[in-house]
Amino acid sequence: MADKGQQVALITGGTSGIGLAVAENFARQGHSVFICSRNAGSVIETVGKLRAQGYEADGAAADVSKPEDVTRLVDAAVARYGSIDILVNNAGRSGGGVTAEIADELWYDVINTNLTSVFLMTRAVLTTGGMREKRSGRVINIASTAGKQGVVLGAPYSASKHGVVGFTKALGNELAPTGITVNAVCPGYVETPMAQRVRQGYAAAYDTSEGAILEKFQAKIPLGRYSTPQEVAGLVGYLASDTAASITSQALNVCGGLGNF
Ligand SMILES: NC(=O)c1ccc[n+]([C@@H]2O[C@H](COP(=O)([O-])OP(=O)(O)OC[C@H]3O[C@@H](n4cnc5c(N)ncnc54)[C@H](OP(=O)(O)O)[C@@H]3O)[C@@H](O)[C@H]2O)c1
Repeated sequence: MADKGQQVALITGGTSGIGLAVAENFARQGHSVFICSRNAGSVIETVGKLRAQGYEADGAAADVSKPEDVTRLVDAAVARYGSIDILVNNAGRSGGGVTAEIADELWYDVINTNLTSVFLMTRAVLTTGGMREKRSGRVINIASTAGKQGVVLGAPYSASKHGVVGFTKALGNELAPTGITVNAVCPGYVETPMAQRVRQGYAAAYDTSEGAILEKFQAKIPLGRYSTPQEVAGLVGYLASDTAASITSQALNVCGGLGNF
């Protein structure tokens, strides 16, 4: 996969769940990984763990929903490792509820964290991150199967992820002649700290136990279980490889058959 030798990968939300698995996978392949999260302590801890395994890793605290943080993050990554070859827009949050009762603040935070951040990060990486000057590049957006179908009590989340899929398709077509591919990976249910929080939210909304929600969700998945962060990272790794050069503007599911669209 690391066809071109060592490359520079910038992964947002690289301290937990899917983003952490993506960072570990790229680092194992010999890439230099630069991660962020809002929590400086978790960034330091995660970078420390990656380095302890002999990997090339660094990071910075940044909130990807804030334009000034995005600028600072991309500048820091370039200062550390040089121009960016691979951008993985992974940072995201869940969020929803009964739509008629959703507060403005929740709506804007979900949209800004999941969707606006993808635009801000991608623009910064293409320009100050140096990707636009290269003969190839990879932008991989972690969307969701909720970016292809509606999720009950998840209107802001579903809207944000449909937005990510639309952004991916438009930018993929725009950049196709440049050698930069833009794709979305759409996980279904993946066992991560976010997945646990989502189950807690539905248990409260339906006045039932988290175990009952887990059973209900698993019953919807043809494979019968949640996907793992490593299974999602595997597709991200493939999309970053040279062999994937003709795959662009796509939204590909990793979901145990949950969505077949
Ligand atoms: N798990 C699933 O079932 C599932 C399914 C479909 C799609 N996804 C998508 O996959 C992505 C990763 O989810 P996950 O399950 O791995 O979640 P997770 O375990 O909660 O990890 C989220 C990561 O993003 C960071 N983050 C959150 N908000 C941020 C912000 N504003 N700025 C910078 N970093 C931020 C978190 O760190 P801090 O909180 O410290 O900032 C953390 O490192 C998300 O986009 C999610 O929507 C997940």
